[in-house]
Amino acid sequence: MSEPGRRAGPDAATVHARNRRSWNAVTPAHQAHKQDQAGFLRGGGSTLFPEELELLGDVAGLDVVHLQCNCGQDSLSIAARGARVVGVDLADAAIDEARALSAASGIPARFERSEVVAWLAATARGGAPRFDVAFASYGALPWIPDLTAWVRGAAGVLRPGGRLAILEFHPFAWCVSATGEVVEPYFDDRPIEEPDGVRDYVGAAGDGLAPMGFRAADPDFHNPEPAVCFQWTVAGLLQAICDAGLRLTTIREWAHANGCPILGERMRKAGRRFYRAAGVPELPLMLGVVAERAPETT
Ligand SMILES: C[S@@+](CC[C@H](N)C(=O)[O-])C[C@H]1O[C@@H](n2cnc3c(N)ncnc32)[C@H](O)[C@@H]1O
Repeated sequence: MSEPGRRAGPDAATVHARNRRSWNAVTPAHQAHKQDQAGFLRGGGSTLFPEELELLGDVAGLDVVHLQCNCGQDSLSIAARGARVVGVDLADAAIDEARALSAASGIPARFERSEVVAWLAATARGGAPRFDVAFASYGALPWIPDLTAWVRGAAGVLRPGGRLAILEFHPFAWCVSATGEVVEPYFDDRPIEEPDGVRDYVGAAGDGLAPMGFRAADPDFHNPEPAVCFQWTVAGLLQAICDAGLRLTTIREWAHANGCPILGERMRKAGRRFYRAAGVPELPLMLGVVAERAPETT
């Protein structure tokens, strides 16, 4: 059994190198499905869902770091709400896309290509904490082999009173089949090998992940680069938050998944929300957490 919050298996450098290749390979396939993103953002469009807006709160005038920002659509949607945003991601292709989208949309934000835990540690070492909000969402945590270090790192870049806001797919959702049988362990300390790499989940979601308009693109995309990911339980995340000295202020669960039919859910409701099929018992499909760094005392 590995320590809670940290996984045995391939060393972190090997995990990140593999995942960097896999995300680089899949990024053009994902992007090919999205129509005019810059025009969408310029016209006031946003890729954020109400659930993360609730967790983020009012960000106007705040410094926000978007962890694992992918191609930056959400980062720029946050910036458009008046925040100064820095986005960090491992994938070269994703950061190139994010920078290009910032330039094309005219929405300023800074994007840095880096492994996130290393970036957080270097940033914390570099001087006074400078972010009011650290934000991560929709498939960020499963790529992290050391969740304790990730949460500690995020806490370390927050100003006193700053908050960590996480909107994730619920870890229990990865354990059940479309019909509700438990097919994968909820408690799983092993690295999870993905021989087919990061999938084209944007194509599979139809317009669920493309509010700017969906294009069918290559239906036969196959990722040649395998990936490796990790299962983090709710308790694993909350314990990492406690251990980092943050105070939990919000915890939410939802019976739908935004944008993605992650369990093959066929019931789609307004707002690109995917529920389990009618007649199949509901399960938690998304998890929301906000935790605060203690305010400065005088
Ligand atoms: C599912 S995406 C997150 C989507 C994101 N919430 C958004 O706004 O589009 C996961 C991202 O994590 C990044 N990633 C994976 N491992 C990472 C690491 N160790 N450090 C930084 N980024 C990482 C991938 O490159 C990918 O862009």
